[in-house]
Amino acid sequence: ELEPLPLMTLDFLQILNEVCEQCYCDFAPDDVEVKVREHILQDFETFLRCQVPGAKLVLFGSSKNGFGFKQSDLDICMTLEGQDTAEGLDSMAVIESLAKALRKHHSLRNILPITTAKVPIVKFYHTKTGLEGDISLYNTLALHNTQLLASYAAIDARVKILCYVMKVFAKVCDIGDASRGSLSSYAYTLMVLYFLQQRSPPVIPVLQEMYVGEKKPVVLVDGWDVHFFSDLKNLHKYWPGYKKNKESVGQLWFGLLQFYTETFDFKETVVCIRRKEPLTTFKKQWTSKHLAIEDPFDLSHNLGAGLTEKYGMLLCCFFKALLKFIFR
Ligand code: GTP
Ligand code: MG
Repeated sequence: ELEPLPLMTLDFLQILNEVCEQCYCDFAPDDVEVKVREHILQDFETFLRCQVPGAKLVLFGSSKNGFGFKQSDLDICMTLEGQDTAEGLDSMAVIESLAKALRKHHSLRNILPITTAKVPIVKFYHTKTGLEGDISLYNTLALHNTQLLASYAAIDARVKILCYVMKVFAKVCDIGDASRGSLSSYAYTLMVLYFLQQRSPPVIPVLQEMYVGEKKPVVLVDGWDVHFFSDLKNLHKYWPGYKKNKESVGQLWFGLLQFYTETFDFKETVVCIRRKEPLTTFKKQWTSKHLAIEDPFDLSHNLGAGLTEKYGMLLCCFFKALLKFIFR
């Protein structure tokens, strides 16, 4: 029902585009900050190995998925050498001993083991950098979804920029904290990727539906299929939509706001990046929630499940307000 004013549109889209690109430039970490994260990880691993023999640490989340901020937390996954899965492992005991070990580290403060969460973690604060972080155990699927998101980020620069803009938007509006009833950054990123897949022509493919050869390979991790097309150098050979979409970031951001306020049916449809064909909340039996976002690998995980009515409303209001503002 809203028609853009013809005179304003071009100028405004240009400005919108610049704001989006600036968002990325302002908040993305530089090479030094990326190296610092790797260095901290290395330091932790060396330190931990003296106390927890065979401990192996890997960075995941936004430190690795291409959507990290200068101040993003350090998401670290710990595994033990010679043990492939968490099976038979006393996670609580390992978490407790990990916390005990970390308390001896001279640049760590506020060590807090959380054993009641879905994934038990130890939280910490790194005094030298002011970064917060947590170490989880055998968070294997998270390592895979980090790789998946990193692949999408690598396909097109616009993907990265839009995901930053979305995260900044969520932070500025204070609607980006899952522990307080809104959505996690990860959930917002999935919403952006979904929009980019559904856009016509699409900006990104559905990597989990692509494969080379006769049959789609199945790679099982924790009982879930984690296969996705990762040979990005040859994407142009296997994805007919390669470089078909030529919209600017500004146009796409505007399109995203329009999509989630006017087109997307929150009641009926699941935000689902693993397949192109729409997935219904009915099929998933997720009809009672305000927003359903399916994890790309753990298909039983609805990232919108914790969204409270208040934050669901706020999210819609902010989208609408921003859209109105653009049309003004
Ligand atoms: P930042 O806000 O920049 O830290 O983004 P992030 O992507 O690192 O988010 P966060 O630190 O909250 O989560 C770390 C990673 O955990 C995500 O990137 C996902 O790989 C993984 N993850 C898997 N399931 C969930 C979930 O339900 N919630 C969150 N928050 N993360 C999940
Ligand atoms: Mg993080």
